[in-house]
Amino acid sequence: MKITFGETALPKSGAVVVGVSEGSKLTPSAAELDRRTGGVLKRAIAASRFTGKKDELLSIVAPAKLALSRIVLAGLGKPSAVTATQIQALGGTLLAHLNTAGETAATVALDPIEGGFDAGDTAANLAYGARLRSYRFDRYRTKEKPEQKPTLARLAVQSANSSHAKRLYQKLEKIADGVFFTRDLVSEPANVLYPETLAAQAKELHALGVDVDILDEKKMKKLGMGSLLGVGQGSVHPSRLVVMQWKGNPKAKDAPLAILGKGVTFDTGGISIKPAAGMEDMKWDMAGAGVVIGLMKALAGRKAKVNVVGLVGLVENMPSGSAQRPGDIVTSMSGQTIEVLNTDAEGRLVLADVLWYCQDRFKPRFMIDLATLTGAIIIALGHEHAGLFSNNDELADRLAVAGKAVGELVWRMPLADAYDRQLDSDAADVKNISGGRDAGSITAAQFLQRFVNKTPWAHLDIAGTAWSKKDAPTVPKGATAFGVRLLERFIAEYYEA
Ligand code: BES
Ligand code: MN
Ligand code: ZN
Repeated sequence: MKITFGETALPKSGAVVVGVSEGSKLTPSAAELDRRTGGVLKRAIAASRFTGKKDELLSIVAPAKLALSRIVLAGLGKPSAVTATQIQALGGTLLAHLNTAGETAATVALDPIEGGFDAGDTAANLAYGARLRSYRFDRYRTKEKPEQKPTLARLAVQSANSSHAKRLYQKLEKIADGVFFTRDLVSEPANVLYPETLAAQAKELHALGVDVDILDEKKMKKLGMGSLLGVGQGSVHPSRLVVMQWKGNPKAKDAPLAILGKGVTFDTGGISIKPAAGMEDMKWDMAGAGVVIGLMKALAGRKAKVNVVGLVGLVENMPSGSAQRPGDIVTSMSGQTIEVLNTDAEGRLVLADVLWYCQDRFKPRFMIDLATLTGAIIIALGHEHAGLFSNNDELADRLAVAGKAVGELVWRMPLADAYDRQLDSDAADVKNISGGRDAGSITAAQFLQRFVNKTPWAHLDIAGTAWSKKDAPTVPKGATAFGVRLLERFIAEYYEA
């Protein structure tokens, strides 16, 4: 789909989208179209339940005397309450509608909205929402018929100040590129995407100016990463640790920001094997790593003036003759010994060494990790919020604010000594599960915290938000890339020069 920007002028052909605000108030473009059609818009509104509330659409086939194919009225709600995410959602919903309707070209003419939301911002955000919704993972659908494919080939977004819209969209498009990269990586099956091939994908970021370092098993062994290596030892695919550095603010003297991801390319559970039903979902147990890689792409793509290091621990958790056993004791890079009582609690074992390595090598300003860490976070928060754990209130608050701003919500969960004590082991320094099922997401976060020094740190448990079974306005079902937009906003808002 090609997206273009231009000044407002009602088109001669294709579908046209105009805005109506609450109380069926036609915007100037809608009123103009109503005049040209001899009152068709007002009559269509009167004959329907459409009143211009936000998220409402009214779609009519254009009258015969016009060469237009279709007129779509888009509800804008209360003009003073319009937000960027609302307009993005409208863009996404419109795109889905135009594709279902079989339209090939559409023009959107949304007029300036009073209340500070400017015309160019509206146009850019509408285009961004449409672009985000247009994502499809279809590379393996080789027999798809033309009628199964999306039809919309051209979207023209009109506004006053269209050069501003175009400039803003150029930046938003880079964020969408990062989101799409993450969605692609998370969607790939585990026979195609395993530690080496995922590392190779990360390496591609070099073309955008990201320094990419890949540590193999020999290097990790030398560094003492027995915790991460133990998880991967049952797989025929060797483990990798990828370090990506984006130095967008070379003059800055302060330490880089660090973002870390769990990259379990497939999680069978290992010897503590998972039940067969639904195990296919565990191809997306590398979503945390996928988000970090997509975020680095977005930051580098828009040349963010900030220094960020992204680290992803990549392993495949398989049962085999060489696999780790329940009861095994491994020594982590931190020196702490870990009793592995359940090989399915593997994400924390991977992150333990990635967190330690990150602190040791980069002394970062803070560390934020993302991980599809626990099924328990889905029990607690469902699919609407990711779990947020942090040793630092400022970091936690900023993440919550950024999440709200982009529509990727997080909810803070507690950390406390009483949970931590449940991880004391009789045989080693720490055990990887508490033993009970209670507070499973918290004890997992407490485990991670044992590998964090004084560094400000936040952990996002994205097990419930990384993948979606239903379409949302800007997120088609499947891999969501939850976290890319959140962290991009968080960095832009608080840390960029
Ligand atoms: N990758 C899973 C968590 C998960 C579950 C993500 C469902 C997405 C959907 C993780 O490695 C895991 O297996 N966690 C166990 C921990 C338990 C053994 C303490 C879990 O949540 O059951
Ligand atoms: Mn597991
Ligand atoms: Zn896992």
